[in-house]
Amino acid sequence: MYPYQITSEEQYTNDYRNSVENPEKFWADIAQYFSWKKTWDKVLSADFEKAEVKWFAGAKLNITENCLDRHIEKLASQPAIIWEPNDPNEHYRVLTYKELLFKVKQFANVLKNNGVKKGDRVCIYMGMIPELAIAVLACARIGAIHSVIFGGFSARSIADRLQDADARFIVTCDGAFRGAKDIPLKAIIDDALESCPFVQRVIVCTRTHTPVSMIKGRDVWWEDEIKIVETQGNPDCIAEVMDAEDVLFILYTSGSTGKPKGVVHSVAGYMVWTNYTFVNVFQYTPGQIYFCTADIGWITGHSYLLYGPLSAGATTMMFEGIPTFPDAGRFWDITQKHKVDILYTAPTAIRSLMAYGTSYLEGKDLSSLKVLGTVGEPINEEAWYWYYENVGKSKCPIVDTWWQTETGGIMISNLAGVTPHKPTYATLPMPGVLPCLVDETGNELADNGVSGNLCIKQAWPGMIRTTYGDHERCRQTYFSTYKNMYFTGDGCLRDKDGNYRITGRVDDVLNVSGHRIGTAEVENAINMHQGVVESAVVGFPHDIKGQGIYAFVIFNGMHVDEEHTRKDVIQTVSRIIGAIAKPDKIQFVSGLPKTRSGKIMRRILRKIAEGELNNLGDTTTLLDPGIVEEIKSGRL
Ligand code: WTA
Repeated sequence: MYPYQITSEEQYTNDYRNSVENPEKFWADIAQYFSWKKTWDKVLSADFEKAEVKWFAGAKLNITENCLDRHIEKLASQPAIIWEPNDPNEHYRVLTYKELLFKVKQFANVLKNNGVKKGDRVCIYMGMIPELAIAVLACARIGAIHSVIFGGFSARSIADRLQDADARFIVTCDGAFRGAKDIPLKAIIDDALESCPFVQRVIVCTRTHTPVSMIKGRDVWWEDEIKIVETQGNPDCIAEVMDAEDVLFILYTSGSTGKPKGVVHSVAGYMVWTNYTFVNVFQYTPGQIYFCTADIGWITGHSYLLYGPLSAGATTMMFEGIPTFPDAGRFWDITQKHKVDILYTAPTAIRSLMAYGTSYLEGKDLSSLKVLGTVGEPINEEAWYWYYENVGKSKCPIVDTWWQTETGGIMISNLAGVTPHKPTYATLPMPGVLPCLVDETGNELADNGVSGNLCIKQAWPGMIRTTYGDHERCRQTYFSTYKNMYFTGDGCLRDKDGNYRITGRVDDVLNVSGHRIGTAEVENAINMHQGVVESAVVGFPHDIKGQGIYAFVIFNGMHVDEEHTRKDVIQTVSRIIGAIAKPDKIQFVSGLPKTRSGKIMRRILRKIAEGELNNLGDTTTLLDPGIVEEIKSGRL
C-alpha cells in the first residue's frame, strides 16, 4: 500500500477537491513520501501567460535514488525488470532491484569515462532490451539529459533530433529484433552521423550480432567499456544532486508544424506525477507483476514502463517483440508465463489481435490478470468489449487513460476498481487536473453534455516545461490559443455525469497506431520526392491503426507507372521520417481544392478520404470547384 493511494470513490472525491482547491498543500503532502536531499522552498509557481511553471523549486534530489536506491533495503532481491525477448525460445531475464542499481551505476561510470557530464544530451537509439532501461537510468544518475528515439525513425529524423538537441553522445545497439525483422540500428545511426560531425562518441551494445562499422576514436562497444569500469574497481556512482527543475529528458513529438518539437520534462514534478498516477490509476499492490507493452521510445514507455513503476518499487515487464510474433497469442503467453497482474496496452494492439479471432486466447491461463489498461488513442466500443470479455473475462476493470507526451503522465482516467469504468470514456480527471471544454472562440462550456476543445486550467506536476531550445514555441503551441489555459489539441465530450470522452485531435496531427504524426511533416517528406509538385495529407478511419494516412499528390512525370511512383513516394517518406509515417493511400491528382487565397481546404479532402462524398459542405469558395469532382472520382 502507498499512503497516497485512493481506495474509495469518496476518497477520490475528497482528494480531487483538495487537489484543486489547495494544490500546494496537496502535492507537498504526497511529495514527503519521496527521497529528497533538500526539500523545496516553494511547491508551485505558475504563469501560463509566459508558459513558466515550477514545482518544488529549491528542492534537491536524484530520480534514480527514488527509483532504485531507496528500495534496496526492502526490495533488493525483488525483480525490478522482467525482460521477455522477441524470440520465445530465448531465455527471459530478470533484474532484481539490486542488480539493476548495480548495472545503472556501472553504465553511469561508462558514460562518465566517455566524457558525458551533467546537462549533456545523450541520444539513445536502442531496441527493447534491459540495456535500454539501464542507459536511460544511467543518464538520470549523472544528470545527463536523455533523448530516446524510437527505433522506427529514419537516419534523417535522428539527425534532425541530434542537431536540435546538440547531442554529442549516442547509445545504440548493433541491431534490434522486432518480430521476424532485424533492424540495423547502428547502420542507421551511421547514416545519421554523416550530417552530425559534432557527435563525439557512440556506445554500441551487442544484441543481434549484425556486422557493424566501428569508427576508431568515435565508436566503442558497450561490453568493452563495462570491462574498463570493472578494472577501475569502484562499482559505486554517487547520484548527481539535481535541482527539482533541472531537465530530466527531452522527447520529440509531432505537432501541426513540419518540425517535431523536443518536449522537456524536469526531474521532481515528473517523478511525483508518474508515481502518483501509476499507483492510483492501476491500483498497484506491491509484489504484483505489471506489464506495459509500450516501447521506451514513446512517452508511455518512459512514464509507465520505467519511472512510474520503478519509483513505486514495482516489478515491471519489458517486452522486446511485437504482439503477433511468433503468433497472435504472444501477449497471452507472456501473461500466463509470468503471471501478469496488470496489462497496459494500446487500442491498436487490441484491434490487431481482435482481427485474429479468439482462438489464440484458448487454453491460455489469464487468471492472474486483475487490471487492464489502454492508452494512446480513443478506443472503439467493439475493441473495448473484446478486451473486457475475452482478456479480462468480464472481471477486470479497464482503465482508459488519456494523456500526452506533454502532460508527462495520465490526466483523465478511472481508477481501477475504485471509480467506475465506462466503455470509450476516459471518465474523470486525476487529482490535480482541472479540465475544461471551450468553443472555438475560447468561451468555456461549463455545462455537462457538451463537446469542445479540451484545455487544462491549472498547473500539474508532470506538465511540459519547455520545448527544447525554443521556449517561445512552447508558449505559442500550448498556452496562446486560449488565455490562461493549456491547450491539448484534442476534441472532447463531457457527458451528463461529467465523464470525459476524448474524440481525437482537432489540429493537423494524426494518430496512427497510437503514434502521433503531423500531416505537415508527412507532406514535407512527400514534397521532397523529385517529381512531386504539391501534396496534402489527411487521416482516414482505419480498422487496425485507428487512423490511416491518405495523401493527395500532384505529380509531374511518373517514373515507369503509377504503381512504381507510389512505391517511390512511400520509400521517400520512409527515408525522411521512418516506416511509421508511410502513407496507406496515395492518390495522384491534377490539383488540390484551394480557396482563392491559396489555402488548401483540408476539410473537403478529409471528407473524401473518409468516403463521405455527398456531404462535402460549401465548395463555392473554391478557386476551382471542378477539381473536387476529379478527386472524388479518383478516390482510392
Ligand atoms: C491521444 C500518448 C483517446 C490524444 C500517451 C492525445 C488518447 C495523443 C488517449 C497523445 C485516450 C492518448 N483516449 N485519445 N485514452 N490517450 N490519446 O503524445 O489525441 O503519443 O493528444 O501520448 O494521443 O499522444 P502521445
